[in-house]
Amino acid sequence: MAVTAKIAPSMLSSDFANLASEAERMLNCGADWLHMDIMDGHFVPNLTIGAPVIESLRKHTKAYLDCHLMVTNPLDYVEPMGKAGASGFTFHVEVSKDNWQELVQRIKSKGMRPGVALKPGTPIEEVYPLVEGENPVEMVLVMTVKPGFGGQKFMPEMMDKVILPFISLRFDQKTEPYRVCCPLYFLLFKSVLVCNNLFSSSWAMVQVRTLRKKYPSLDIEVDGGLGPSTIEVAASAGANCIVAGSSVFGAAEPANVISLMRKSVNDNQKSS
Ligand code: DX5
Ligand code: ZN
Repeated sequence: MAVTAKIAPSMLSSDFANLASEAERMLNCGADWLHMDIMDGHFVPNLTIGAPVIESLRKHTKAYLDCHLMVTNPLDYVEPMGKAGASGFTFHVEVSKDNWQELVQRIKSKGMRPGVALKPGTPIEEVYPLVEGENPVEMVLVMTVKPGFGGQKFMPEMMDKVILPFISLRFDQKTEPYRVCCPLYFLLFKSVLVCNNLFSSSWAMVQVRTLRKKYPSLDIEVDGGLGPSTIEVAASAGANCIVAGSSVFGAAEPANVISLMRKSVNDNQKSS
């Protein structure tokens, strides 16, 4: 079964003082979901909103609230988030290795849809048991930037992780040509990558591609730095749920950005 596009503006980039009207504005612009970033100042070095804000917003909208829990103890949040009216509850695999079965079961019992997220650098294999278990998660969120802040650039920093180990190997040889050439090579390589938006070889996109191949009907969400210039890479890798904060809220016409991203997902799904 083909997956459908879900465009989810990240409310982290909205005017929090006018959250209800910002939510309504995004829905009028064609948003499918509203992405809500819950941070505890511990799992990530930032603190945002929690269940009380979700509860307040729920009074103003029936929209699907796609909650992304960047917290160290997600189990503590299930009950309050369920009561507050969250629709999706996506927890991070890095902090749930020992209790994900209990987590998924409790999330479902509170009427929410469970999802699992992974930070850049976390091996993709870590989510397989959660997708294939008897009581599976229904979505995988692949972070395309470090979690914690909106407005980060998609990818180049991920490339460092892949390229730097090779470069440092060369430095170990301590010969003069290597000392001189490697930094130049690195700068050249990096600027070529950035200039050409050659993001498709990035870690996160490889993860999305691997997941899509393995699970054709799974909801795969990408989060971080998505917008008109990066959507095609993510959509062609197989992502169908797109979180976008700064590119949507910073646009003169958010509706155009949302419809462009939807089209990219739909076109890629049709051709796959
Ligand atoms: C970052 C959050 C994202 C963020 C995305 O940790 O999970 O949802 O708001 O914002 P942009 O699209 O601006 O990168
Ligand atoms: Zn998020």
